[in-house]
Amino acid sequence: MKLSDARVVITGATGGIAQSTVYLLAERGACLLLVGRNSDKLIALVKHLGSEHSWLSADISTARGRADVMLEAQRFGANMLVNNAGISEFNEFAQFSDARLTEAMNVNLLAPMCLTRSFLYELGDSAKVVLNVGSALGSIGYPYYSSYCATKFGLRGFTESLQRELTGSPHKVLYFAPRATDTSINSEAVKQMNRALGSKTDSPAAVAEALVKQLEQESKRVFIGWPEKLFTRLNGLWPEVVDNAISKKFTKIQKFVKMVNS
Ligand SMILES: NC(=O)c1ccc[n+]([C@@H]2O[C@H](COP(=O)([O-])OP(=O)(O)OC[C@H]3O[C@@H](n4cnc5c(N)ncnc54)[C@H](OP(=O)(O)O)[C@@H]3O)[C@@H](O)[C@H]2O)c1
Repeated sequence: MKLSDARVVITGATGGIAQSTVYLLAERGACLLLVGRNSDKLIALVKHLGSEHSWLSADISTARGRADVMLEAQRFGANMLVNNAGISEFNEFAQFSDARLTEAMNVNLLAPMCLTRSFLYELGDSAKVVLNVGSALGSIGYPYYSSYCATKFGLRGFTESLQRELTGSPHKVLYFAPRATDTSINSEAVKQMNRALGSKTDSPAAVAEALVKQLEQESKRVFIGWPEKLFTRLNGLWPEVVDNAISKKFTKIQKFVKMVNS
């Protein structure tokens, strides 16, 4: 689908990666329906982008919020959905309450699955594109990211399964996996840890460029960054190699998780 013909619903629209993405999409001629929870930020964003774009305040962790998104998407005539909203927590697994685990599951996994099903099957028969924003941590189990990794591994599995189920269908479902990116999803402890470990962090602008390129090319899966790309493959083939690489850094990683609970 040409981006100039795209009518895009994007969740988490006021977040770091999305804010850069929506400007690029608008420049390419796409029309946007911005979804988030902060009305003031959404209104300000639409003001900058132009009056042809729309916004909706909805909490996608609830069935009600997801129903509102789909109703508005139908009115808007959406043909592209970017499941970008996400939450992340770096912490010891023992610290996660049922409520926090449920919220992560709802926002990162259940919401994209439910929105994708409604979008593809309840909004008419025309060809549609869905892009799910995963993570490098959707392929590598990283210490103290148990909840986030579980949801992003799930999102990757869901996307891959659906891609294969949709063989011969006009719909496209894509998976996009950034590595660490400089946005407020990462706590101060995570930012300090990435610097201490020498892990590269991308700018939201660079990640947005890659996301928009993927939408233009409709590539099934895109993983960003070196050596993360290699590690995602290695972890599938020889997880012991990645076990060893992470265990060498483990004492340093532990130092930063202690910061979170101090
Ligand atoms: N930054 C990274 O290091 C990184 C790396 C790999 C993958 N990713 C993925 O990239 C995506 C975007 O993340 P980001 O870095 O741009 O983070 P961000 O700046 O924190 O943005 C996340 C967005 O999700 C929205 N959101 C959270 N819970 C929501 C809910 N219940 N209902 C509706 N919206 C909700 C937030 O909106 P509110 O304004 O309503 O809170 C926020 O706009 C996420 O899926 C993340 O997992 C990020």
